[in-house]
Amino acid sequence: MSDLYCVFGNPIAHSKSPAIHAAFAAATGQDVVYEARLAAVDGFKQAISDFVAAGGKGANVTVPFKEDAFRLSTQLSERAARAGAVNTLTFKGGEILGDNTDGAGLVNDIICNLNCPLAGKRILLLGAGGASRGVIAPLLAGKPASLFIANRSGEKAEALAAAFADIAAVDAGNFAKTTGRSFDLVINATAASLAGEGLPLPTCLFASGALAYDMMYGKGETPFMTQAREQGAAFCADGLGMLAEQAAEAFLVWRGVRPETAQVLADLRAKLGG
Ligand code: ATR
Repeated sequence: MSDLYCVFGNPIAHSKSPAIHAAFAAATGQDVVYEARLAAVDGFKQAISDFVAAGGKGANVTVPFKEDAFRLSTQLSERAARAGAVNTLTFKGGEILGDNTDGAGLVNDIICNLNCPLAGKRILLLGAGGASRGVIAPLLAGKPASLFIANRSGEKAEALAAAFADIAAVDAGNFAKTTGRSFDLVINATAASLAGEGLPLPTCLFASGALAYDMMYGKGETPFMTQAREQGAAFCADGLGMLAEQAAEAFLVWRGVRPETAQVLADLRAKLGG
């Protein structure tokens, strides 16, 4: 019988993860079945125990359950503990192992797919919620020259920076506090695009040759990519590569094999259109 995996979320019907993992399984010859499962907003724990009882070997976790998965894990990887959230669960011998592959996915996409090494770069991370928290330690591991966290609420950014002070000095504040500074890499981890809103970013934020990266994706340019291009970013990318790379990292955690992402990413892009 094939080994059973799934992704839990609410909503989940439009998840691309089943198609991504089916492609990985076919390409690596792994005997894996991967489904999308809807869990009730207050029913995550029950959904997990039902899945384990049915023989489930592992699960990805998406909105709104990443903090529930963190709390339910009986063991946490270091990167999950740092992120305060779990997107990859492994069920083994009665234990629930919690991991987080989002940050590795972002960093792999930026370094390997977009050919943008982090070492020596001045990085600006926009947003101070869960999405931002999950990528800070992996970004710092790339040894940037500096990291600045900017957020609508500056205090929230400062609190987040303080939580990583043992790894490196991280600057933080509201968007206005970035005035007069310029950055080589600007990453949008805010939910502003969901609200269809732009960000109040100072002009001259983008250094020459800068990459603007939106953790969101959609058909064509995201609102942040449009704003960044208009404000002088040399390169713009959306988060579709991060999606493929976090999935590849989860597949590696479960199966011990890291799938190639290039074809999967090209297929995802073609399906999105734009
Ligand atoms: P997630 O898990 O996606 O990070 P979250 O924890 O709710 O979600 O965080 C949302 C982030 O997007 C926060 O940084 C939030 O800013 P505040 O902390 O000031 O609320 C940011 N955000 C949401 N809507 C925004 C908007 N319209 N403009 C700017 N920032 C916004």
